[in-house]
Amino acid sequence: MFVSRLKIYNFRNLADQSIELGSGAVYISGLNGNGKTNLVEAIYLLSGSRSFRTNSSSELLKWGEKECSIFGSVTTSLGSEELGLIFTPGERRALSNGKELDSMTDLIGRLRVIAFSPADLSLVKGSPSGRRRFLDRHMVDLNPPFVKVLMAYQRALASKSAVLKQPGCTYAHLKPWNELLAQSCGKIVDNRVKFLESLSDKSQSFHKLYAPMDGDLSLTLESDFYQDGRVLSDDEILGKFENAAPREMAMKSASLGAQRDDLQITLGGVDARAYASQGQTRSVVLSMKLGVIEMIEAATGESPVVILDDVDSELDRARSERLFSALVSKPRQIIVTGTEGPSQQLIHRPELRILNVSQGVVTAS
Ligand SMILES: Nc1ncnc2c1ncn2[C@@H]1O[C@H](COP(=O)(O)OP(=O)(O)O)[C@@H](O)[C@H]1O
Ligand SMILES: [Mg+2]
Repeated sequence: MFVSRLKIYNFRNLADQSIELGSGAVYISGLNGNGKTNLVEAIYLLSGSRSFRTNSSSELLKWGEKECSIFGSVTTSLGSEELGLIFTPGERRALSNGKELDSMTDLIGRLRVIAFSPADLSLVKGSPSGRRRFLDRHMVDLNPPFVKVLMAYQRALASKSAVLKQPGCTYAHLKPWNELLAQSCGKIVDNRVKFLESLSDKSQSFHKLYAPMDGDLSLTLESDFYQDGRVLSDDEILGKFENAAPREMAMKSASLGAQRDDLQITLGGVDARAYASQGQTRSVVLSMKLGVIEMIEAATGESPVVILDDVDSELDRARSERLFSALVSKPRQIIVTGTEGPSQQLIHRPELRILNVSQGVVTAS
């Protein structure tokens, strides 16, 4: 799949404009602070994900403006579609071919984007919530209806948390929420385990190419509901919730559930979250993302759009060349930003487009 054209209105520092991207490789050059990341962020948002740089939609609005929008023409093997997003302070709306979609989650699956950015190191080194987001987001890429299970879980968890905060809360108040949570918890954990089995294999083969000297990479789920290689049954999960109830009622917060899972990353037999160096962390993240790209291609028969934001500032030459070789080995739309000009592998792409961003204005060169 590819995004052939982008229309920007009041988005961050970008000028209002229509930008032709074509169907192949795009290199976006420009000095720092001119809007390269803003441009790829706009494309990323059309995939229905939250921004990789902010959780707050109002940051996306050009300073002083009350509404901004992004439209993108997306082509897949099924045909073409114009996806749109409109942001106002406190509201986000999604459109397809000019018609408003019921919810933002209806965007999911129409445009899949995998982004590599300097912030990725936190996937290994940051908090468990970032790793859970990575898992859940890509599980939804592979299986869009799964987002409903995740949302049902989040809703039940929010209700349970509210009940726990009420004075005089007894187990009778918690029980219906625990029953609901136990069901979706089992599904979520089961999906995470299966997703990781496949991702671990695929990432491991990439990692062997990148950094064989770092030892074997292995990805597994750390969860209270996954023990001895087995996901607990719904009844066993509910039993655990019942056992945790006195403590949860004393603490007035939900301390057990899929919201506590983590992704364990082992490199050469040790915990990469604690011990991996920067260089090792980069190789792990690249291998995981390349693994996800292959999983999406195997499951959907279609390549996601790949964004590489400023990777040259992050990767040494050898690593960056190996990354490009892996990415250009299949016909994928690759959108790269940088200050130093396209790499050798990109220069030789016949369809390469070079854009320049200067103070938010994008021109083709
Ligand atoms: N909401 C906004 N409104 C106007 N300008 C913004 C907004 N958000 C960020 N910017 C500006 O965008 C520029 C950063 O653009 P960015 O895409 O990060 O640059 P780079 O080319 O280095 O990737 C900065 O000058 C920043 O001040
Ligand atoms: Mg940038």
